[in-house]
Amino acid sequence: MCGIIGYVGADQVVPVVLDGLRRLEYRGYDSAGMAVIGDDGIRILRAAGKLRNLEQRAYHEPLYGTTGVGHTRWATHGAPTEANAHPQVDGRGEIAVVHNGILENYAALRRELLDDGVELASDTDTELIAQLLGRETGCLAERVLRVLPRLQGQYAVVTVRSAEPDTVVAFRQGPPLVIGIGRGENLVASDVTAILHRTREVVYLDNGEVAVVRADRVELLDAAGGPVERPPETLDWDAGRVEKGGYRHFMLKEIFEQPDAIRNTVRAHLDAERSGVIVDGLGIPADRLDRLRRIHLVACGTSWHSCLVGKFILERLTGLPTEVDYASEYRYREPLLGDDLLVVGVTQSGETADTLSAMELAAAGGALLATVCNVRGSSSWRLATARMLTQAGPEIGVASTKAFTTQLVALTVLALALRRARGLADRLDEQLVRELQRLPLAVEEVLRTDRALYRRGTEILSEATDSLYLGRGILYPIALEGALKLKEISYLHAEGYPAGEMKHGPIALVTDGFPVVAVATATATRDKLLGNLMEVRARGATVLAVAEPEADDVAEIAELVLPVPTVHPLLQPVVAVVPLQLLAYNVAVELGHDVDQPRNLAKSVTVE
Ligand code: F6R
Repeated sequence: MCGIIGYVGADQVVPVVLDGLRRLEYRGYDSAGMAVIGDDGIRILRAAGKLRNLEQRAYHEPLYGTTGVGHTRWATHGAPTEANAHPQVDGRGEIAVVHNGILENYAALRRELLDDGVELASDTDTELIAQLLGRETGCLAERVLRVLPRLQGQYAVVTVRSAEPDTVVAFRQGPPLVIGIGRGENLVASDVTAILHRTREVVYLDNGEVAVVRADRVELLDAAGGPVERPPETLDWDAGRVEKGGYRHFMLKEIFEQPDAIRNTVRAHLDAERSGVIVDGLGIPADRLDRLRRIHLVACGTSWHSCLVGKFILERLTGLPTEVDYASEYRYREPLLGDDLLVVGVTQSGETADTLSAMELAAAGGALLATVCNVRGSSSWRLATARMLTQAGPEIGVASTKAFTTQLVALTVLALALRRARGLADRLDEQLVRELQRLPLAVEEVLRTDRALYRRGTEILSEATDSLYLGRGILYPIALEGALKLKEISYLHAEGYPAGEMKHGPIALVTDGFPVVAVATATATRDKLLGNLMEVRARGATVLAVAEPEADDVAEIAELVLPVPTVHPLLQPVVAVVPLQLLAYNVAVELGHDVDQPRNLAKSVTVE
């Protein structure tokens, strides 16, 4: 969703804000803007469209000042026009507000302000916050504390006031805000990628809190205005990891980072010496382990696909019945909760609104809460009792890649940990630990595949308007993920299906030359899958397959085989997804799309 940056310090604020927004643009890119407090009050610059439009305006209309805020927008209320871009200001133009989230009492507040004769300049809910702050008296922090109870919904807000040129005030309920503690300067941002290059000392703002940020100090207040003490944390990410590092796109860089990301995730959770899982690291209390009878996995999008794979792994290794839910459905479906249940929120960002709400619901119902998450200190991280960090490092490309494969690894480790805790460990565990340690090499092998094969695959997919992705068993979620990747960045329609279901409908789509992408590595159901592929071939489909190079039976059916090495069946999803990521990437590049910032999408979905 929207990206936010605020700065107060000694440097000119415009370059700091633009630099921060460039690093945040992956969160939303419909429009952008900034407010700077200069000698003559607040000056605002806004532009519809991508950040480069704002950069051009800033070049032609320079602003000077050392305090300010910036915003890159993913539209919720109002079209992505300049008038609806943030910052929004109060009636007198003295208070500027940037906001990520949605005010649920938007209509009531808007009516109230209009009835009071306030002239509104935009369709946004954000302007309402600015107007409410403008109608209060006192310093900005006092105004914020009085307006807070009037706001319903989810918001992360950063605001400045011309009469207080050395202060930035931030508050949140839902979407995240992090404060970066610098030397002689402090920053506020919607996520750490915007500030990592200036400081690694951060304080996360909690829901309901207000931060009063000045160049030399940061005060945290609770919603009643009482002081809150929270020491800064030091981030272990370094700034170089949010650069493209010579790659054309972040997505490609992140695909190629997968061997290291997997290696780091495996190392973080496995004790190689004892070839065992570090159970303690998961933080599951022993008494809860004894009571554990069921598992629910909740997530959205790509993370939901990793849960679908996780179900196979968890049930196979722990014997615990495991259900998978879209977080957006779980939170409203009245699931059967209880203290015999482990609920795992799987989320790259740790900030996805639906996943957090599903987790909160589960905790309120007595379940033990765990998270598999890529961002230490994020909301899901702080919500959960048991935590597994995926060590993917910052993921900037909107289409998730390395977060997905490390989630698969983390869920496997979680399954091994639970298996061990339940006294089930045997030789299979040792074998899986060895295989997990070998996995980065297998992914490296996939990444070395002859480019010519991908060129052929790209040609086939980019000339079609629709395609079908098929898989069976533990590989069927990989078919879903492959189709999602293609849809997201190439805007071509693709449907993922369990191959056995194909005859019950989707086969009607198949005509001459219709592309069918099959995830056909060697599992117990490969023969069944091959039968399904024969059926689509008989109707003229062009079959592309992911399979081991020695699988002659697949090569006989497929027009093209994207090869992957043999790994343990439970780990095949990790290697099998990589060719599908590369295929989607190549098709999107071929079609000339903006791979890292696809149409209508945003990296972190912090509203429902
Ligand atoms: C797809 C993608 C999204 C996310 C989803 C959940 O490539 O990135 O589908 O997986 O929005 O996000 P997280 O994992 O941050 O909860």
